[in-house]
Amino acid sequence: MRCLSGKKLLRGSLGMRVCSGWRQFLLFVTLIFFLSHFLSVLEWQKTTPSVKESHQKKQKFDHLVFGPAAGEGLPNRLQCKGMKALNKTHISASSNMSNGGNGVTFVTVFAVYNSSADGRASESTIVGKASYNKVERSMTIMNTFINFIQLMLPESNTIILTDPASRLPLKRNRVAVYPIQGDYSRDKLMLQRIRSYIAFLEEKLEERSREPSQKITHYIFTDSDIAVVGDVGEIFSKYDNFHLALTFRNNKQQPLNSGFIAVRGTLDGMSRAKVFLEKVLEVYTTTYMKASRMLGDQLAIASVIKSHALFNAKAFSSHGSFLEDIDGASVLFLPCEVYNWTPPEGAGQFHGMPLDVKVVHYKGSRKRLMLESWNFLNSSTSNDLSDMLCLVLSSGRTKYDF
Ligand SMILES: *[C@@H]1O[C@H](CO)[C@@H](O)[C@H](O)[C@H]1NC(C)=O
Ligand SMILES: *[C@@H]1O[C@H](CO)[C@@H](O)[C@H](O)[C@H]1NC(C)=O
Ligand SMILES: *[C@@H]1O[C@H](CO)[C@@H](O)[C@H](O)[C@H]1NC(C)=O
Repeated sequence: MRCLSGKKLLRGSLGMRVCSGWRQFLLFVTLIFFLSHFLSVLEWQKTTPSVKESHQKKQKFDHLVFGPAAGEGLPNRLQCKGMKALNKTHISASSNMSNGGNGVTFVTVFAVYNSSADGRASESTIVGKASYNKVERSMTIMNTFINFIQLMLPESNTIILTDPASRLPLKRNRVAVYPIQGDYSRDKLMLQRIRSYIAFLEEKLEERSREPSQKITHYIFTDSDIAVVGDVGEIFSKYDNFHLALTFRNNKQQPLNSGFIAVRGTLDGMSRAKVFLEKVLEVYTTTYMKASRMLGDQLAIASVIKSHALFNAKAFSSHGSFLEDIDGASVLFLPCEVYNWTPPEGAGQFHGMPLDVKVVHYKGSRKRLMLESWNFLNSSTSNDLSDMLCLVLSSGRTKYDF
């Protein structure tokens, strides 16, 4: 028998026709290779079920789960004893707001998914004493969003941008529904949202140039899963130089959150905000269409900001607000920890809740907490906003059923 070359030996090794000396050594190496590969497959199969188990353990709760309130002992953070706030956040529902949100309009995009094909559409969820099916549940979130706004800023208005096909059963004072043509399907909603914002600004710009003397209204574009808990309208007088405002946090991948965008209601403010959003839309459609349906817009906003030559991304690690010129638009950057506070980050990078928090964002699986906190605020136990913030702070680390 001719001895095989080293390379052929490797291939032929399972045939078990072996030559002596170094060729045996090569066979040995080959066996070790197969064995270790085989073992690592076994190892992988062993670990996979435990990964699944840990997912199952991350249960989502259908009732509030309380833990310690983050930020304990920190001087500028809300201190709680159970559901009782030891500090009053500087503005509470009964105090005197700058001007009650007069001249401020909140704008949100909202779509109802009422498909009979969705077998679970009739599944009901219980929150407090109420039971909701899926459509009722999202309508309740929308109504709670409006409730918080009207409690804190009774002079403000709210506009809901929606699919002309969805007839929103929503009749409330100071609330208007604006149909805007588009594709509001679930997986396109973030993209459609930017398009609707742009179409809305276009319409308002036209209105302003037709009637230049009409009273100025500033716009705050937000997600509808936020609670306004402070005077957010004051930014327009406190910082009198910006065209649009965004909220930032110290997060390398996603430093900017798209859930809060403020636009000054002047011709200049609206037209620059529109140009900015058009740029974001372009980057979104050319670069981030494959990104998760929830993140594309935020990645696109960050990309537009960071691509600006003079912008220093280190600024996102600061705690205060700052102003930057981005392609002719004066952009105000507001800290998320005050203007877009989220429960999971309260326990993490925000280190509790600042006493001047103005917006709570019930991101992800925390819409239940939004409804529960509104119910708590209106319960007989407490109608104090600071106490409600203690409830949010101590239960927001948990993920809920919606
Ligand atoms: C908040 O309350 C705690 C406990 O009563 C107190 O020690 C702290 O000084 C208060 N913080 C502020 C800023 O008032
Ligand atoms: C509210 O504030 C305004 C101006 O800041 C002031 O003139 C008014 O007296 C205040 N009202 C109350 C009830 O404190
Ligand atoms: C959803 O569909 C049901 C049944 O088709 C209907 O009764 C209900 O009014 C719809 N709700 C909305 C908000 O369109």
